[in-house]
Amino acid sequence: MSEPVRVCSVDELPSEVGAVVAEIEGRRVAIARDSAGELHAFDDTCSHANVSLAEGEIEGQHIECWLHGSQFNMTTGAPEQLPATIPIAVHELRVDEDGSVLVTLRTTTAGV
Ligand code: FES
Repeated sequence: MSEPVRVCSVDELPSEVGAVVAEIEGRRVAIARDSAGELHAFDDTCSHANVSLAEGEIEGQHIECWLHGSQFNMTTGAPEQLPATIPIAVHELRVDEDGSVLVTLRTTTAGV
């Protein structure tokens, strides 16, 4: 696991459900807020094909790929609806006292 990287201020993220993309150490990472207001960090590229998951729909803790409808759990990275069968990597995210959003990249998928 790498060192935490400051991505942005929490004020720069969507205040409601939504996602943005950040490049962290050369990797495209989606930072998303779910329906409960929780933040998640995960690889932005769908494991089915090379498109951005951040452009998909978020419902609860899931994000749905806009191209073919695969759904991924944003906490575990698990694919929960076909056609994707390969998990995406999820990353550790925390918000510091000063509002900095810190992401620690994981190189492997977790929890699946
Ligand atoms: S590219 Fe995401 S489901 Fe096909």
